[in-house]
Amino acid sequence: MHQKLIILDFGSQYTQLIARRVRELNIYCEIHPWNKIPKLDSSIFGVILSGSPFSTLDALAPKPDLSEIKGKIPLLGVCYGAQYLVQNFGGKVLPSKIREYGRAFLEVKDTSCPLMKNVGTKSQVWMSHGDTIVDLPPGYSVICSTDDVLNAGFQLENEFTFGIQFHPEVYHSTEGTKILKNFLVDICGFTQDWTPNAFVSETINSLKAILGRDKVIMGLSGGVDSTVAAVLLHRAIGNNLHCIFVNNGLLRKYEFESVLASYEGMGLNIRGVDASQLFYTALRGKIDPELKRKAIGKVFIDVFDDESKKVENAKWLGQGTIYPDVIESVSATGGPSQTIKSHHNVGGLPDYMKLKVIEPLRLLFKDEVRRIGTALNIDSAILNRHPFPGPGLGIRILGEVIPEKIAILQEVDAIFINGLKDEGLYNEVWQAGAIFLPIQSVGVMGDERTYENAVALRAVSSTDGMTADWCHLPYEFLARISSKIINQVKGVNRVTYDISSKPPATIEWE
Ligand code: XMP
Repeated sequence: MHQKLIILDFGSQYTQLIARRVRELNIYCEIHPWNKIPKLDSSIFGVILSGSPFSTLDALAPKPDLSEIKGKIPLLGVCYGAQYLVQNFGGKVLPSKIREYGRAFLEVKDTSCPLMKNVGTKSQVWMSHGDTIVDLPPGYSVICSTDDVLNAGFQLENEFTFGIQFHPEVYHSTEGTKILKNFLVDICGFTQDWTPNAFVSETINSLKAILGRDKVIMGLSGGVDSTVAAVLLHRAIGNNLHCIFVNNGLLRKYEFESVLASYEGMGLNIRGVDASQLFYTALRGKIDPELKRKAIGKVFIDVFDDESKKVENAKWLGQGTIYPDVIESVSATGGPSQTIKSHHNVGGLPDYMKLKVIEPLRLLFKDEVRRIGTALNIDSAILNRHPFPGPGLGIRILGEVIPEKIAILQEVDAIFINGLKDEGLYNEVWQAGAIFLPIQSVGVMGDERTYENAVALRAVSSTDGMTADWCHLPYEFLARISSKIINQVKGVNRVTYDISSKPPATIEWE
């Protein structure tokens, strides 16, 4: 088992950021809800207590029993985590007279403290707290302060227990990564060997051990996660991995053929199934976006089910689930949230398929998946692809989805996406696509009046799709794309550009 750090989550918006910083140091970590502390074993080298939206003074604040951790292995409390250590072990926390949010300057008071090793004497840190530590518990000593907060950091020397009031994980804490590294490497003793190559070889070995000679079925979408997961599985079990790639007729222009060819090029045992007509039939007459999604989802499951029956004695279903989909987050009311998001690349499969699920990437963040993909020599064009929704162009054609509209939208989309690629803008944009609007408008081409379709272009910047801003693409670029679309795509005489952010709009129009 790999050396690991446990982050106990008290519900802070920054908890995942702590995990990312730790992993960027090539150290493996897991986030666990505060009320589900894992049992210590020899693989756990340290624990970090996260921040929280709560004050330790709230009656409902999370208050776990730390007796199995504190003094047994290195422990670092961050913000709420630091205050909880103080309050729980005999010190005092009170609402501060001066609330500290944002920038503060940290002064190291104890240069011999290993947590503060090589930290500049006056560095910028980011604060976000309304309470302050008034008295430290007996035996604890101050290691750093800011102008307004005397006890900004403390230690209990003989126990390797530390607390810091500021957030080392945020970008604006200039020495934050150094402080985390001091804790993880010097104090906990991590060896920083959680590298992409180590992950690849460990994962392949463990997949071999789990799967043996069992057969695995997997639906591929052309996206990064399912591709990387499939390549790992293929390295472990070879052709016992049976991949299925369904053409729902709602993909981008030539996407089915080109993605299938690249899967074959990777040596995957893949079957491409063109089920476009089944999807078109199911979509006929449907206008409501949710009904369209349901129709597409149902046909997909039927097709996948039919195809997987052709693989005899399959025992497993491979999926490209990643870590943000499985973290059990803490709800604002203190208890662990009941809803663990469970993302299924192939939608809810019928129970009778009774396959066990295998998810080789369930411990990775998206950027880590890309790094693993690079270590596996997967083409960067696949690794850097924009996200594309499962229902595809079906939710980018407002109103009824018919083959004629799909053909037009595929052309428009191809001009836009290829234009972004040709002009070096593709990787600047998080997601882009075209939308077929349900209106026609008057235009003039040559000497003729036209009455044709309008399309919208959408390009957004985002990190996770939860919030997004529209991309400020150069006007000259938009002008070139617009005239190319109107000149080359028959049936379109008007192009608009969507300048709405999410929220209040969404990325997709449906
Ligand atoms: P919205 O439109 O909710 O999109 O702002 C956020 C992200 O989710 C994608 N999306 C979907 N993906 N099935 C999917 O697999 C869907 O039904 C679906 N709807 C939206 C969208 O493309 C964006 O990346």
